[in-house]
Amino acid sequence: MLLTVLVLSLTLVAPSAPREDNTALYPPDDIRSSNPPVLVNISKLPRTVEVNITAAVAKLSLQPGVTSEVFAYNGHVPGPTLDVREGDHVIIHFRNSLPEPTTVHWHGIHLPVESDGSPLNPIAPGATHDYEFTVKAGTAGTYWYHPHPDRRTGFAIGKGLYGAIIVRAANDPLPKSIPDRLILLSDNRFLQDGSIDFPASESMHGGMDEENGREGPVLFVNGHVMPTLKIRSGEVQRWRIANASAGRIYRLALAGHTMLQVGSDGGLLEKPVEVKEILLTTGERVEVLVRGTDAPGRKSVLQNLPYDRYAPQTRPADWQTTRDLLTLETTSETPVAPVAIPVTLRKIVPLDTTKATAVRTIVFGQGMINGKHMDMARVDVSTHVGATEIWEITNIVGMDHPFHLHGFQFQVLDRDGVREPYLAWKDMLNIPKHSSARIIVRYDDYPGKWMFHCHILDHEDHGMMGVLEVKP
Ligand code: C2O
Ligand code: CU
Ligand code: CU
Repeated sequence: MLLTVLVLSLTLVAPSAPREDNTALYPPDDIRSSNPPVLVNISKLPRTVEVNITAAVAKLSLQPGVTSEVFAYNGHVPGPTLDVREGDHVIIHFRNSLPEPTTVHWHGIHLPVESDGSPLNPIAPGATHDYEFTVKAGTAGTYWYHPHPDRRTGFAIGKGLYGAIIVRAANDPLPKSIPDRLILLSDNRFLQDGSIDFPASESMHGGMDEENGREGPVLFVNGHVMPTLKIRSGEVQRWRIANASAGRIYRLALAGHTMLQVGSDGGLLEKPVEVKEILLTTGERVEVLVRGTDAPGRKSVLQNLPYDRYAPQTRPADWQTTRDLLTLETTSETPVAPVAIPVTLRKIVPLDTTKATAVRTIVFGQGMINGKHMDMARVDVSTHVGATEIWEITNIVGMDHPFHLHGFQFQVLDRDGVREPYLAWKDMLNIPKHSSARIIVRYDDYPGKWMFHCHILDHEDHGMMGVLEVKP
C-alpha cells in the first residue's frame, strides 16, 4: 500500500521513475511496473544484441523496511532481463566485481561450451569475460541465467544472482494482441537484521538446508512480495513462469481458473493443454495463457499449494502451508472480446528411439549420481556430436531430485513406464522419490564438456553433478 502511494506521487512529479523501467507508463500497482529492467542493447549492428552485466555486492531493500547485503546483477535483484530474438548474435560483456569467483550460466540455451558458464570456466574477482552465442531458430522460449561456480551456486543465487531470458520467435503463432507477463519465482530466508540467512553448515539448520535444499518463507515474484497483476475482463495474457528457487518446487494454481499451457522449457508445445495446476520444479519454466474470466473488479490469487518433495525425516514442519504468490485483479474497464487461440502452435519432431546409439543409466542416490560425487577432472559420460541417446534416470531415494542437462534440450519418453502424453523440449525434469523416467537427447552440435546435475542447488554444490563429454 505504502509503496503504491509513494510510486504514484513520484510519477506525478517526475516523468522518470526511480527504477529504470516503465513505471511512469503503467499503473504503479501493476506487476509490469515492478518488472526487472530489460538489458540495454548497445550494438548498432543488425541482429546483434550486445549488453553489459556486472555482478557486485549491493545493499538493497528486498522486503519493506529492511535492507540486505546482496549480490546483484547491474544493481538489481532479480537481474535485468535478457530479451532477444531467434537468430540474434548475443554478446554479453561480463564483469565480476564480487569478492569471489563466479560464472554466468545461460540455463537452457543451446550454445558453444565456452559460453556455458559452467564451473569449468570460473571468472576471478575483478576479471571480465565475454559470453557469446547465436540464438538458434526454433528455440524461442523462456530461459534464465544464474551463476554456476564450483560448490557455491546455491549461495550465489540465494544472495540475489538470477535473471530471466526471453527468446522471441521470428514467427510466433500466438496472436500479437496477447500481452506477455514475466513471473520469475524465487524464495529466500532472512535474519531479523535483514541479512540473508545462510546458517553454518555445521549447524542444525545448515545441515537441514544441505539435506533438503535451502528454502525460505518469503516468496518473491520478480523480486516483489505479493504483487498485483492486472487483467481486463475477457483479456488473454501469456505468462512466462520461471522457477529460480534453489530448492523449492512450486505447485501452482490460480483459484477459480484453469490455465492453458502453451510452452515448456524449450519453447512452445505442439498444442495448448488445459491445466488446473502446474508442478514447476527448480529451474523449470512454463508458458501459460491466462484468461480474464472474472467479472470486472474481482480478485483471485496465484498460489503455491503444498507439494511433498521431502524425505519424512527432514520434511519441514510447515510444508503443508499454502502460500500466496500474486493477486490477479480484473480491472473495472469494460470487458474485451477474447481473442481466438490457435489450436496448433508448432510441429515438434520426435527424436527417433531406433537411432539411439546408447542407453545410459543414471542413478540418483542421496547426494550422489551413480554412486559418485562430482569430480571436475573426471568424465562420467563420453559421447560424440551427432549421437542420439536414451538416458534412464532413476531416483532410488525418498526425496525428489530434479534432473538438468546443460546445452541440449531433450524429450521425455516416459515416466515410470507411462508414456509422456505430449511432445515438449525440456532441460529440466523432476524425478520424484522412488521413480524413474526415460529421456531422449541428440547432441546435434557443440562439442565439449557439459554438466548434468540435480537442480536442488545444495545437492548440486555437494556433488550431485556429472560431466558429459561430447567429442567432435
Ligand atoms: Cu540452472 Cu547447471 O544449471
Ligand atoms: Cu543449466
Ligand atoms: Cu537432489
